[in-house]
Amino acid sequence: MSEHIIQRLGHHGDGIAPGPVFAPMTLPGETVSGSLDGTRLSEVKIVRPSTDRVAAPCRHFRSCGGCQVQHASDAFVSDWKAGIVVDALRAHGLEVEIAGIETSSPRSRRRATLSARRTKKGALAGFHGRASGVIVDIPDCQLLHPDLMPARRVAEALAVIGGSRKAELHVMATLSESGIDVLVSGGKPLDRDLEVELAEVAARHDLARLAWGDELELSRRPPLQRFGPALVLPPPGAFLQATHAGEAALMAAVSKITRGAAQIADLFAGVGTFALPLAQRSEVLAVEGVAAMTKALDRGWRDTPGLKKVRSVTRDLFRNPMIAEDLRKIDAIVIDPPRAGAEAQIEELAKARVPVIAHVSCNPVTFARDAGHLIAAGYVMDPITVIDQFRWSSHVEMVAGFRLT
Ligand SMILES: C[S@@+](CC[C@H](N)C(=O)[O-])C[C@H]1O[C@@H](n2cnc3c(N)ncnc32)[C@H](O)[C@@H]1O
Repeated sequence: MSEHIIQRLGHHGDGIAPGPVFAPMTLPGETVSGSLDGTRLSEVKIVRPSTDRVAAPCRHFRSCGGCQVQHASDAFVSDWKAGIVVDALRAHGLEVEIAGIETSSPRSRRRATLSARRTKKGALAGFHGRASGVIVDIPDCQLLHPDLMPARRVAEALAVIGGSRKAELHVMATLSESGIDVLVSGGKPLDRDLEVELAEVAARHDLARLAWGDELELSRRPPLQRFGPALVLPPPGAFLQATHAGEAALMAAVSKITRGAAQIADLFAGVGTFALPLAQRSEVLAVEGVAAMTKALDRGWRDTPGLKKVRSVTRDLFRNPMIAEDLRKIDAIVIDPPRAGAEAQIEELAKARVPVIAHVSCNPVTFARDAGHLIAAGYVMDPITVIDQFRWSSHVEMVAGFRLT
């Protein structure tokens, strides 16, 4: 057994002591002991706890790997997440102000991907265990919305009929306006018997929709999603923000940044999370790489009376970014790229000189790189709003306005 003093949290939520020594579920300032295996401390005991330490609200915290920082107070986690954003920007020589942090409440996640496996006795569904491939059942999960909890039983039933003892099923479950919407990957190839059994599971659990990879889509009720006044029927697995509160906070920030713009381009638009609410007051050019998503967005717009014009375009913005000529009439940009960021698109935006850009990001590192490009091109960055939709995890999202001076 050796003793260590934790100096900081790493980006995955582990405490780090000099060495480095990585100690899970510890906090800065704590004296901890345990057995050292390489750089990792196991059987960790807290010798002197931090004043930021709290009792984990979920009884699964020790075994389940779904959450990383339930042992820390909300105030500590907020400061830590804001610090991750500040540090990422500092690495690019940028000093920033944090406008605030919006943390989604417990039991509010509208979507989760559960792992499920057939077992000798039946099936097991849940999240992966802490640093292990073992599936942990999570009957008292404090993350998922209560209406999403029945998805555990759905995942088990699906593993029994369509999983194997070796491979794991990935069951993505999403709350919709008409019930749970499920997309399964990693299952057995579809045959007639499986199709009948899947229909039975969908009916027994009253699912809105059940998709088996891209082989089958059983729709019992359209699993609609609401964006402002619009209802959209997304294709199975389409990107959605993780919580309604997180989405509302992002939308409020985007709306404030783009206020007064008559023509907005929403790049990486998804199924219209921002484009459709923005169309209540502005014309929108919505650009998205997945054709089925663009189609869903367009249909949502056409079915909603009273919105201004939304033109939906399918385009690969990595290979074929929007250039100055495409953005000639645009007064404001909303850009919300995937984790990899959008370097090529940002370089074109830096040239296009649209007066206002609302940049939403789920990756502080690529956000900082993008911010550096825009600031070098003459933009000034507003204070950053940090959004914590992935409560108790090490994920962090952010949104900031950039304005030409
Ligand atoms: C972080 S999501 C944001 C979606 C939307 N703004 C929202 O809030 O729901 C990123 C989106 O970028 C799309 N995307 C990924 N790669 C792309 C590419 N190369 N070109 C265009 N869109 C892409 C994804 O399909 C996804 O809808």
